[in-house]
This record gives sequence, C-alpha cells and structure tokens, in this order.
Amino acid sequence: MAGALFATKPVDRLVADTEVEAGQLRRAVGLLDLTALGIGAIIGTGIFVILGEAIGDSGPAIILSFVLAGVTCAFSALSYAELASTIPVSGSAYTYGYATMGELLAWIIGWDLILEYAVSVAAIAVGWGQYFNDLIDDLFGWKLPAAIASAPGEGGSFNVPAVVIVLAVATLLIVGVRESARTNTIMVFTKLVVIALFIVLAFTGFHSGNLTPFAPHGFDGVVTAASLIFFAYIGFDAISTSGEETKNPKRDLPIAIIGSLAVCTVLYILVALTASAAVPYKDIAGQQAPLAYVLRTLNFDWAATLISFGALVAITSVVLTILYGQTRITFAMCRDGLLPASWAKLSPRQTPARITAVFAVLIAIVAAFFPLSEIAKLVNIGTLFAFVITNIGVIVLRRTRPDLDRSFKVPFVPWFPLIGAALAIFLMKYLERATWFRFVGWLVLGLIVYFLYGRRHSRLQRGQVLNPEAEI
Ligand code: ALA
Repeated sequence: MAGALFATKPVDRLVADTEVEAGQLRRAVGLLDLTALGIGAIIGTGIFVILGEAIGDSGPAIILSFVLAGVTCAFSALSYAELASTIPVSGSAYTYGYATMGELLAWIIGWDLILEYAVSVAAIAVGWGQYFNDLIDDLFGWKLPAAIASAPGEGGSFNVPAVVIVLAVATLLIVGVRESARTNTIMVFTKLVVIALFIVLAFTGFHSGNLTPFAPHGFDGVVTAASLIFFAYIGFDAISTSGEETKNPKRDLPIAIIGSLAVCTVLYILVALTASAAVPYKDIAGQQAPLAYVLRTLNFDWAATLISFGALVAITSVVLTILYGQTRITFAMCRDGLLPASWAKLSPRQTPARITAVFAVLIAIVAAFFPLSEIAKLVNIGTLFAFVITNIGVIVLRRTRPDLDRSFKVPFVPWFPLIGAALAIFLMKYLERATWFRFVGWLVLGLIVYFLYGRRHSRLQRGQVLNPEAEI
C-alpha cells in the first residue's frame, strides 16, 4: 500500500504518454519564443510594484536582496534546466516529482504549484487593474469608480478590470499557442525597452549620498526583503511547462531557463541600484507605482506615464505566461488521472481549452473578490517549496536513472542542488508564521482531494498505459 503511494512513473513512460496522438500538444515554440516566455513570466508585478514594499525592509541594500533572491533562483534554475532537458514533457516540477519521488509527492507538488501559478495570476490581475486605472487617470483624468475596480475589503465590491484581463488572456490561450507566443514576444520587447529607459533616466539622478546608510535594518532586513522580492523572479520555471510544445526541447529548454533568469537578474540589480541612488529609499517605500514615482521625482513626467504603460504591458505578459504554465501542469495531471481526464481534451486547435476555461473562471472569481496583500507571500512559499523538491529531484534521478540522456547537467552534483534547496529553505524561514499556516492548510486540503479522488483514478495505480507500444 505504502509502496504504491511512492510508485514513480518511469521517465520513458512519461515521454511515451505524450506521444499518444489524440492527446498531443503542437510543437510550435522555438528558442526565441521560449526565452521570451521566461522573461514574459518574470518581469512584472515584482519589480514594478513589490519593490516599493520590500525596500522599506532593506533600505538601499535592496540591491543585495535582489542578489540573494537571484542566486537562490540561479541554483534552482540549473536543476530545472537539467530536469527539463531529461524529461521534456509538460508539467514542470510535478512531472519531475512523479519520475523521482513517487505519485503522492508529485500530487503534493502539483497541488502546491496551483499556489505558484493560479493564485499568482489572480494577484497579478488585480495589480493589472490598478495600473489600468492609474493610466487612464493619467491620460484622460478619469477612472473607474472604486466599487467596480477593487475587491470587497478594499473599498469595492467587484474588481471588473482584473476579471476582464484574466478572461481576455484565457481566450488568447484557447485560440492557440503559436499566436500566444508571438503576442508574448511583442509584449516582452516592450517591457525590456521600458525597463532600459528607466535605468538610463534614473541613472541621470544618481546621488551616492542616497545609498547611505546602506542597510538600515541590517542582515535580517536584507533577507526579509529578499523573501518578498523573490516574487519578482518567479516565472523562469514556467518555461519548463512547455516541454511538449518546444521544437528542440533538449537544447532550447536549458538555454532559455538560464538565459531569461540571467537577463532579468542583471536588469533588476540595475533598477534597484539606480532607483535607490536617485531617490531616498524612505520616499520610495510604500509607493504603489515605485518606478513611475522615481521618474516623476526626477521631473521625467512623460517617462513616468510611459513606465505605467509599460507596467501594464509587462503585467499582461506575466498573466499570459503564468496562466499558460498552469494549464500545462494541469494538463499533465489530468492525463495521469489525478484530476478528471476529460478536462484534458484538446480543442480542434490543439490547445487544452477546457482546462484553460476552468482555471480562468476560478482565477477570475478570486481576482474579483479577494484583496492582494498577503497573496504574494503565499505564492512565494509555494514556489520555494517547489524549488526544494526540484533540487532534490536532480540528486534522486542521477542515482536512480544514471543512464538517461541529459543534454544539460548541473555541475557539482549533489552540492549545487543541495545549496539550491538550502537557500530556498532559508528564504522560506523568513516568511511570516501566518503564511506558513495558510501554506500547510492548502497542502492538507490537497491530501484530502488526493485520497478522495486522485488515488482512485490514477492511471499509474490502475496499471493503465496510454501508449502501450512505447512502454518499456
Ligand atoms: N515574477 C512575476 C512578477 O513579478 C511573477 O510579476
């Protein structure tokens, strides 16, 4: 009995299951699209909004917080890259868990990833709504009344813009992945230009005096800010959910994962440095739109408007990419029978339309009615937990399946994955107790769902094979 709970799904079978014709996704995504997918998922609410909150904890040493969170992600990115190159199928950490640590753990990770993906989409969509209102106010001097632009508890009753963006992006995903990837590439280009513009303009106001005192709240302040600003890096792992739609996954997945993270880390550190050198950190702390605020303070009003527009575009591409990731992970879970298999039916355009629609409705409900404040921390703890499992997964799979073809290998195994897991746990420890309680509550709910549904319907448990000829 216990053995069955820890039954792993052989890697060869994971890949073989994707080759069943009726359930096959279209291989339409190339390296540039894939890297754009990563950057599309990464640069968003974190740098445009959460920077303003985190800087209050750290002071100008927010630069070090970005470095710490970036290094944590870098070690985990190596592990994601190795596993994505070894098991290039949809599902990300969920699939890796299934291959290495068994079904129960895979389910827990899949359930946990709903926090990282679906819940964060709801949060990001609400942020989008705020920027939308800000921008139309800036341009036309008019904005949506609070009653229909924010959640109950935040002065409103229903957040219309947040719902609209979730449903609009879901429609795009249902129309087709190639079209979505192309739209995403354009949005990513826009936000890179806007971030570069910010760095150049903020640099003209560089005042080294603003950088002292550098770390007014000491080491703890730096790490607390890192555990929050970590949100800004989430998304590079979303690339690994598109393994089945990538033209050359074994080569392109590792390059895109590491490349997109590297680009964003450099940009973030430059944004943090130029922002905190241009304006005293205490003034930036608590701002809803901190980057626009910095430019306005430097009298670049036109650029501040442009930044708000860029933030809107940036956040749209984050919603697109993360929602895409959620649908692909769920697709893998449905195919394995842990969630209703009928959800995974593909539309005539070869996209998992039902899953996309189900999640879009659930996310829209959350976005319409729930305030954001604590959601980012819950998303962070869920993501860090997935990082821990992924790092351990690399070590386990090297031992259990040393024979597999790995086009990318993490150096210094087991040390690098161990450092990656340790850094993730370190950041988790700095998140509040309330966040931990919510996280544990979510996992317990997941276990109940597993024992009531997933365990009974699991294809692996029932000995069902999707593609018998490819079975080993
Ligand atoms: N990293 C993504 C963002 O900052 C989730 O919006």
